[in-house]
Amino acid sequence: MPVICAANPKGGAGKSTTVLVLATTLAQQGANVTVIDADPNRPISDWRTGKSKLALEVISDVTEATIRDKINAASAKAQFVFVDLEGTASRLASRAIIRSDLTMIPLGGSALDAMQAARAVGLVRESEEDTGRKLPFVLAFNRTNPPPFVRRIEREITQQMQKNELPVLKTHLHRREAYNAIFMERLALNELDPKRVNGLDVATDNAIRLTAEILELLRELKKDAA
Ligand SMILES: Nc1ncnc2c1ncn2[C@@H]1O[C@H](COP(=O)(O)OP(=O)(O)O)[C@@H](O)[C@H]1O
Ligand SMILES: [Mg+2]
Repeated sequence: MPVICAANPKGGAGKSTTVLVLATTLAQQGANVTVIDADPNRPISDWRTGKSKLALEVISDVTEATIRDKINAASAKAQFVFVDLEGTASRLASRAIIRSDLTMIPLGGSALDAMQAARAVGLVRESEEDTGRKLPFVLAFNRTNPPPFVRRIEREITQQMQKNELPVLKTHLHRREAYNAIFMERLALNELDPKRVNGLDVATDNAIRLTAEILELLRELKKDAA
């Protein structure tokens, strides 16, 4: 079943947050989801040690030698497999990208983020050349402001990407306290206390819309591949 990795050699790009939000939302909707935590800092494995009752399998301690087998084993079992990569360009990351049906490249809405994301796109394209296969990727904005507060720089970056014909998700994971809180509390969005987390309902709605767009994209990619 589909393998989706989050790659960007920049630390703090939003990889782990995007993966956890999508994986927990899909699991909450009843899907059988596995996350492979391929970051030695183990953010998603740490999350799993919390009190969340959500059925979501997390696999830790993968290395560049084991990543392929771990991905293959997980995708034979789970409906969706996410791979959360560390913030460096490594052989492990390349192997995950090569094995993924979709590589998400999370980025924030700053000029520096855009430059780092361009590097990440370069890594995917290098892997395409190495393998002689098309490796689908998509840029995934996070920590941007919701409309009508969209900053000019975000708009300019988006336009630049469209000009360069880079695929970008329409739905951003906007900057929301709830996406921090899931890591702090080690809970899923639906397990957070709406009295203690500002804007939880909007954050949940945003997560559901982002998940729906990813599902739609996976369907399109599957159609293209057939
Ligand atoms: N949409 C968002 N809203 C609020 N905080 C966010 C959002 N996305 C990421 N963050 C915060 O930004 C920081 C970096 O995100 P993270 O997902 O850990 O990046 P990466 O995995 O690429 O290193 C974390 O503290 C995370 O909680
Ligand atoms: Mg991370």
